[in-house]
Amino acid sequence: MPLIPITEVRMTVLTSPAPLAIDPYAMDVLRHPYDFHEALRAAGPVAELTAHGVYGVGGHAEAQEVLKDHRRFSTTGGIGLADARKPGAHFRPLNQLLEVDPPDHTKLRAVVNRHLSPAKVRGWRADMERDAAALVERLLDGPREVEAVEHLVESYIFKVFVDAVGVRFDRDAILAIGAMSFNQSGPPNDLYHEAMRRVQPYLQWFEDSQQRQHVREGGLAWQFFLEEDAGTIAPGTASNLTRTFVRGGMDSTIAGIGSTLLHLSRQPAQWQWLREDPSRARGAFEEGTRMETPFQVTYRVTLADCELAGVQLQADRKVGVFLGAANRDPRRWERPDDYDARRNTVGHLAFGAGDHNCIGQMMARLEAECLLAALLARVKAIEPAGAPEWRPVNQMRTLDRLPLRLVPQ
Ligand code: HEM
Repeated sequence: MPLIPITEVRMTVLTSPAPLAIDPYAMDVLRHPYDFHEALRAAGPVAELTAHGVYGVGGHAEAQEVLKDHRRFSTTGGIGLADARKPGAHFRPLNQLLEVDPPDHTKLRAVVNRHLSPAKVRGWRADMERDAAALVERLLDGPREVEAVEHLVESYIFKVFVDAVGVRFDRDAILAIGAMSFNQSGPPNDLYHEAMRRVQPYLQWFEDSQQRQHVREGGLAWQFFLEEDAGTIAPGTASNLTRTFVRGGMDSTIAGIGSTLLHLSRQPAQWQWLREDPSRARGAFEEGTRMETPFQVTYRVTLADCELAGVQLQADRKVGVFLGAANRDPRRWERPDDYDARRNTVGHLAFGAGDHNCIGQMMARLEAECLLAALLARVKAIEPAGAPEWRPVNQMRTLDRLPLRLVPQ
């Protein structure tokens, strides 16, 4: 009797996402997200977040895998909780850079990248250094106890970002637009409704600000309009890009610098170590954004049934990539909950990963470096001068108040 060859059949048994009942948008979680992060990572590679009917990913390796594979995990359903493709989803106009997959994304990204090259970004350094030094001197001339979110970080970013991008500025409008942007990407909860109420008087102002006649000749936004004139990008794209930059570029950097200052105010020895060589400021900022990741979560949508780390996922489901949880994953980071300006932070996900990784990250780093260097040059110590307060925002980890004492040298 002939022998029947036995073929080796490898079978992978896929599991289902484990249910997790914690609501990531509950107020107490937004104020203190770490227990949720831990529960999410402990639930396995993918959890089913039952409060919102979406998947959630909190491990570093899995988060990176999602962000790096647009074929399984697309941004075309929007990067917020709601699926933008579904009728009735509470949604804003799609972002023409971020909420588009390759190859269309690749073409537009290449055009925008030309205006954010290392050489272009370096061109902003002198102005940022000057503005940072002037602001620190002004603060040291005053009472030296400052509410650092408003008087230090916001003041600085509102000046240097607005100058570089070349958009018009109104403080109340910009704050309201930021609150709208980063609450809109969560559920329609009280934070969302309050942000939408607050922004109403400024919506027309914001719409007009994205038009050519309101952007400064020579600024970054102006370059987008020149690209439109040259036919390299489609009509209407320059306004959409300007809108994206204004929505995404300020609150994020304010959040990252604020968190860095908070941790440094608690670590006087690290402040002294940075003062020995102010070029270390950049690493201090990276670690601040790892620890208190400004964009806590971003979403993708599954285009077909697929698998992630042995877990079976269904088509047309939103997948929350919890960058804040991934950035404190103990499988990736030693002592993940300790702030350490000396840490090698390469691979942190605060600026995302894959096709849509943050196009403004060099600018954000430069802004942070110039402000921290100006402080390190003139301030012997930064000390807590009261309790910090976190501002609950659906998508963002950011401080509302940070009272600091600046001790001049
Ligand atoms: C600390 C500051 C910042 C943080 C933490 C941050 C974070 C991020 C993250 C996580 C993404 C990817 C989102 C996703 O994949 O779903 C992203 C994309 C993006 N960021 Fe930033 N960002 C910062 C500053 C900026 C600045 C200063 C600008 C503008 C100059 C900017 C413009 C953008 C744009 C346009 C994209 C979309 C890129 C694309 O889709 O190709 N960001 N950012």
